[in-house]
Amino acid sequence: MPEFPYSRLRRWPDVEADNLQASDATDILLVERALALGVPGDEIAVIGDEYGAITLALTDAGRHGIRVHQDLATGRRALARNAGELGLGGFASHELDADLLTGARVVLLQLPKALAELEEIADAVARWAAPDAVLVAGGRVKHMTLGQNEVLARSFAHVQAERAERKSRLVVASEPLPVPAEPPYPVTAEHDGLTLVAHGGAFAGARLDIGTRALLDVLRLEPTPGPADVIDLGCGTGALAVSWALAHPDARVIATDRSAAAAASARETVAANGVRDRVAVTHDDAGSDLQDASADVVLLNPPFHLGNSIHTGAATRLFEAAARILRPGGELFTVFNSSLGYRAELTRIVGPTEQLHRTSKFTVTRSIRR
Ligand SMILES: C[S@@+](CC[C@H](N)C(=O)[O-])C[C@H]1O[C@@H](n2cnc3c(N)ncnc32)[C@H](O)[C@@H]1O
Repeated sequence: MPEFPYSRLRRWPDVEADNLQASDATDILLVERALALGVPGDEIAVIGDEYGAITLALTDAGRHGIRVHQDLATGRRALARNAGELGLGGFASHELDADLLTGARVVLLQLPKALAELEEIADAVARWAAPDAVLVAGGRVKHMTLGQNEVLARSFAHVQAERAERKSRLVVASEPLPVPAEPPYPVTAEHDGLTLVAHGGAFAGARLDIGTRALLDVLRLEPTPGPADVIDLGCGTGALAVSWALAHPDARVIATDRSAAAAASARETVAANGVRDRVAVTHDDAGSDLQDASADVVLLNPPFHLGNSIHTGAATRLFEAAARILRPGGELFTVFNSSLGYRAELTRIVGPTEQLHRTSKFTVTRSIRR
């Protein structure tokens, strides 16, 4: 059988750069293991397939009916695009739920960065996959921790780390343990009248991030606008969207995030705070479904990590999205790590940018769309 053309895969619409690849040695180890286990495609579930390398290589090798869950909207689009480019089909995308896992006997996982996300996934596999299911989890050695094995051991009787190969390593978890009646996520926490609900993969969990808090403190001092169309871009658990809706009952708010775990958390945060009539939540990449020049206010606490690599392109994409979505004269409120000095970039991409607050850690700015 010819080698699968991993080099033809692209990350698009995610940020592309020379140091950012669309597949890695872990994908290849996971694919090789699944083929060695010899199960049919409809008994394989793939979780965390970043740009589709695992699903597509297995489909190309004749495994049909694979089920795949990707947290990021960008990853879902990349998989669809890469599949189209290679002329491959016959797999199905799912949320992290019973439909993804029922009857699955081999679950392949690209290990997530956060232990909470891993805990939610491990519980889901133990809860819904076949009783003899094997979870084969892989990662780059430099990003793997013993904590990951401990989390897996809460849901599986056997957890075996294998020897590293090509700087990646597989950990095999087998014999799913009985699960508690309620899944471990979402979790909930109260913050001075704001309830946050978080799934395992959501930024900061149910905590209120200190950057988010800095932005909220500044917004409280701003003059109250009239009815306004407000976007929480990269909403995480929805802390900014819901705080705005609670403070401005006549606002129309959209909270949007490219992470499915974030969007699900934000929906539950919206419900928990009784603002479903004022806040809509979407799972989308950089607000791509939002109309040009449709918003009066954009709230933004941008990421500066892309997966495990530090790359500021992720923030730039959101500045460009804010510039597109805002009406002329509309306001972008941004909080960022003071060391990043985004002010010049915000001025170039969005419009005149003033500093509203600065500490050694965080800077809050307002940019007016020109
Ligand atoms: C630093 S967190 C802030 C979350 C939330 N706004 C808060 O303040 O707690 C950044 C969020 O941006 C999201 N994000 C990153 N890139 C994105 C993109 N291209 N489109 C939509 N959301 C994105 C991440 O998933 C993450 O939830």
